[in-house]
Amino acid sequence: MKTYIKKIYKPMLIFLAVAFLYNCQNQQKNQQTKEEKKMNVIKENFGNVDNKEIYLFTIKNENGMEVNITNYGGIVTSILVPDKNGDFDDVVLGYDNLDGYLKETPYFGAIVGRYANRIAKGKFTLDGVEYILAANNGENHLHGGIKGLDKVVWDAEEFQSEDGAGVKLHYLSPDGEEGYPGNLDITVFYTLTNSNELKIEYSAKTDKPTPVNLTHHSYFNLAGTSGRDILEHVLFIDADKYTVIDESLIPTGELRDVSVTPMDFRKPTTIGSRINKVEGGYDHNYVLNNGGEFAKVTELYDPVSGRIVEVFTSEPGIQFYSGNFLDGSITGKKDVVYSKHFGLCLETQHFPDSPNQVNFPNTILRPGEEYKYTTVYKFSVR
Ligand code: BGC
Repeated sequence: MKTYIKKIYKPMLIFLAVAFLYNCQNQQKNQQTKEEKKMNVIKENFGNVDNKEIYLFTIKNENGMEVNITNYGGIVTSILVPDKNGDFDDVVLGYDNLDGYLKETPYFGAIVGRYANRIAKGKFTLDGVEYILAANNGENHLHGGIKGLDKVVWDAEEFQSEDGAGVKLHYLSPDGEEGYPGNLDITVFYTLTNSNELKIEYSAKTDKPTPVNLTHHSYFNLAGTSGRDILEHVLFIDADKYTVIDESLIPTGELRDVSVTPMDFRKPTTIGSRINKVEGGYDHNYVLNNGGEFAKVTELYDPVSGRIVEVFTSEPGIQFYSGNFLDGSITGKKDVVYSKHFGLCLETQHFPDSPNQVNFPNTILRPGEEYKYTTVYKFSVR
């Protein structure tokens, strides 16, 4: 009997010991994965501006996609995505260091506002009061003025969420800044998801009525740093109309049908195939067919690398800007020279000059209301 018990007991003890060790190891592994997940936002010093520390955040997702964001101007300094062969490259224009952004930048990767795009003659009247903004684009006001949201230091905090990780940015734009009425309290969440999306959630509140129109100003080049411009990229825009503009790029108020014009991107079309028929190149606001609902509005595809970026938003417009003013005077990341059409912007927005255009969707935010919308840039390959 004794030997029988011994026979059973010993293997049982060994089994329990092995099971215990296995369990311990697994717990350790789980802990590690949790920690690894926590670590997918890295915060480093990127310099100093106005005696405030500037950070560079590196966010990496499960697929190896990587995004760099700084709290100076809320700038996305790089987006690393794979091509159809799995080779990663940076698909946005910008500089290698903060100095580049401080010297001169055509809004590379920035958050733009308080009013993205143009306001005619830098003036608007609201509730009977005329407001004068900085004229920083000829006689017009562009992208929030001389020191817009792209040039201020945002408070920044990294976060983890269900679908990824990111950076929360906050900025309180004081009453009167760049001529705008009201203290505007702005929050932007940048999230890199594990579905290879860069999600941007904008929100703002004010204590006086004021126009608000925020956007993101990345210059995409899906060819990466290969030295090719964007003219071979294929673009789809789900819009039947665009806002007609005058020679200073201010809307005339007319919404024109894109049919049988070089403005029609309802079928995916190579950008370079008709750009010469558009004076100055594409720099137009499209009237989206999304009916104000969050939906896919645009797709950009580079047939050579196979890279794709799809844009989703609930905003009524998107500015397609084909980098017409890039002229080779900027040498960007990795010493690449940014010549004409070297990058393009897909800026989700309300229509330009809305505060002066009674027929355009409203852009006035009033106390007690919340400005809120989301745009997603989703990357993939074909
Ligand atoms: C505008 C262009 C402007 C550019 C500035 C774009 O959003 O549509 O007209 O020149 O920003 O870099």
